[in-house]
Parts: sequence; structure tokens; C-alpha cells
Amino acid sequence: MAPHMGTIERLAAIVLAAGKGERAGGNRPKQFQRIAGRTVLGRAVRSLQQASEVAELILVVGWGDEALALEALEDDAPRPRLVGGGARRQDSVASALDELARSATPPSHVLIHDGARPFVPSDALDRLVAVLDSGAVAAIPVLPVADTLVRGAGGMAGEVVQRDTLFRVQTPQAFRFDTLRAAHAAWPQDRTATDDAQMVRALGHEVVLVAGDQRMEKITLAEDFARVAVLNGMGPEFRTGMGYDVHRLEEGLPLWLGGIEVAHSHGLEGHSDADVAIHALVDAILGALGEGDIGVHFPPSDPQWRGAPSFRFLEFVRDRVAARNARITHVDLTIICEAPRIGPHRDRMRARLADILSIDPDRISVKATTTEGLGFTGRREGIAAQAIATIRVGD
Ligand code: CTP
Ligand code: MG
Repeated sequence: MAPHMGTIERLAAIVLAAGKGERAGGNRPKQFQRIAGRTVLGRAVRSLQQASEVAELILVVGWGDEALALEALEDDAPRPRLVGGGARRQDSVASALDELARSATPPSHVLIHDGARPFVPSDALDRLVAVLDSGAVAAIPVLPVADTLVRGAGGMAGEVVQRDTLFRVQTPQAFRFDTLRAAHAAWPQDRTATDDAQMVRALGHEVVLVAGDQRMEKITLAEDFARVAVLNGMGPEFRTGMGYDVHRLEEGLPLWLGGIEVAHSHGLEGHSDADVAIHALVDAILGALGEGDIGVHFPPSDPQWRGAPSFRFLEFVRDRVAARNARITHVDLTIICEAPRIGPHRDRMRARLADILSIDPDRISVKATTTEGLGFTGRREGIAAQAIATIRVGD
């Protein structure tokens, strides 16, 4: 947005993160949990800091949550001023307003934003700031109600409520600073307010309704993380990777293939147990993750992998997948050899691979083909394997 020319002299933003997030559950308050790979609070703070109109940002956190809050902020973001919150949302807002009022340069206007709303599209912010800048005392983003609304009592429907005059209220909410302070001062201590606009209105001021944005939805329940990510085009995505490997056959060696030992006159030769099928699978999964190949993680020059069972490599990539908040959706393996015949061992391989990867066997396909006597596999000099892995990344 272009630099404003109106009534805003200095705009401060207050981000509220002092709630306990009880309805969302989890091992820490919702604002410190991740959505699409980054914390809810880190995203909320960042999106307001990126607005050129915002001169300073105050972050309100619960007592004892300072470390969690700082950890939740994005690495390259400017460090906001931290203020201790209160028991209710309105108490948290009040302590930030007091802090701003004490500062050498109090703002002329202020935005109040729920730290539990990770996404603030810049055009929604621009709409609010424009209304404020043109002289309004207060502006709030709202969404129309799409569903039919009905009163209910005792499990029975009552009258239908006209929905065209009803709106869902979001944040950030925008105010003249002095007016919001006065509204907080005048509000009865024992009355709970779920937002700030109702306090300003109670003082007799007009609050302008501005078009909100569904991408600004609040995280309230556990299922909202996935839903709000999807609303912002950051839902889960699928990635695929392929792998290919070859090992030489030698008479008298044990044959490890697809995680099981197969009775055969020849076995595969290599640095580890030379399970060519697992090696192709490991490379496919690493490919889907974009994390190099098997040789990067398990260099053949490293003596600790001599004779190593290949399921260890597969366990390693399984853990890499988990660390990326991803899941293996499907793997498809093709083993290329004249002998042994793979069909009789297929289900045992699938069960074993499923066990190592901690996924359902029906997510694992094992196929086999010969090369009609052609090439090194046709001459039974070695076995080749190809794999494709599909992983789902994100919530
Ligand atoms: N908030 C706050 N101080 C409080 C209570 C709430 O700063 N004492 C903040 C929350 O961190 C959140 C916003 O106000 O960003 C909206 O509140 P809500 O969605 O109710 O969050 P929580 O109170 O944390 O959640 P819950 O009510 O489920 O416990
Ligand atoms: Mg609450």
C-alpha cells in the first residue's frame, strides 16, 4: 500500500498470544503449534510486521510462556516488544495498551490481532487501514453468514433468524488509540468482552464493517489447523521419488531381497547385505523428500556399513519422513531378474517392508519382471530394482 496521507500518524499492532488454547488441545497452546510447517504465532506476527504501515509491534504472552513465544517467532523477523498478559483476552489487550501509553511515542492508532489467526492477507489489512486513515474511529473485518440460522431450544427448532444482518467478526481490528483506551477504561471490570469493537461501540462510537477474509480464520479447535492451512492454499501435498539399483550375483552368498532372505543358489554382492530392492526403495523415498541418495547417508567408504542389514537404511528414511511431518502413501517396487522367481515371496516381502516402514502392507506393491534373457539381468549376472515412492507432506 502507498504511504498514507490521512489521519494515521503512527500505527502500532498488538498481537495476543496469552491464551491457553484449551479448546484446541495439544502439548502447548495452539499459537505455539505449527501450521503448514511454521508456528501459528510466527506467521501472525510476521504478516503484521510485513505491513509497511505498522510502526511497532507488541506481543502479549502469558507469564512463563516467554521462551515458547520467542522460539515460535521466525528467525529473521525483528524481535517484537513482549508484554505479560492477563486472565481474560480483554486484560491482555489492556496491558498492551498501558505499555504503549507509557512509551515515549504512543501511537495514534492501533491494530488488535489474535495470535491464533496465523494468516493476514495484505489486502484485508489494507482495507482496514484505509478506513481508519480516512478518519474512522474503528474498523473491523467481518464475514457474512452463509447458512440458515435458527434458534433452538430443548433440541427443537424455533424461529429462523434473519442472517443478512448478521456477521462473523474477525481480527485484526483497527482503532484510534485514545478511543480504545477510553473504551477499556469505561468497560465494567466484571463483564467479559470477546473482542474490542464491542467496547468501543459501548462508548457510543461507530464501528465500520469492512470485508473480512476466510483465510483469516482463527484456530480454535484441533481440526482447524488442517482446515485453515487448506483455506490458505497450504494443504497437504503429494511428492514422488524414484530409485534404481543394481547388484552383482555371486554363487554361494545369501540372497537378501525385499527385506527377507530368499533361498537361492546365488546371492547379491555388495558393501552391505546388498538388498537391491531395499536400496532402490530407500532412494525413492529420499527422492520424494529431496534429501540426496543412499550413498550420501551411508557412504560405501564408511566401514560401519560393511555387511549392514539394509532394513537399517529403510528405518533411517522412515524416520526422516516422520521428521518432515510427512507420511508414506504408497511405494511400488519392481525387481528385475530371471531367477529366483519373486511371486512366491511377494507377500512376505510386502509384510516385512510394511513392518519396517510402519505402514499398511496394502500401501506396498512388489512386482517382478525378467528381461527375456537380454542384458546383464538376462545373463543372470545381477539383479536390478526400481522403486517409486509417494509421500504426503503437511497436515
Ligand atoms: N488471549 C490472550 N489472553 C487471554 C485469553 C486469550 O491473549 N487471557 C488471546 C489468545 O491467545 C488468542 C486470542 O486471544 O490469540 C483469542 O482467544 P481464544 O481463541 O479464546 O484463545 P484461547 O483463550 O487461547 O483459547 P481457549 O479459549 O480455547 O482456551
Ligand atoms: Mg479463550
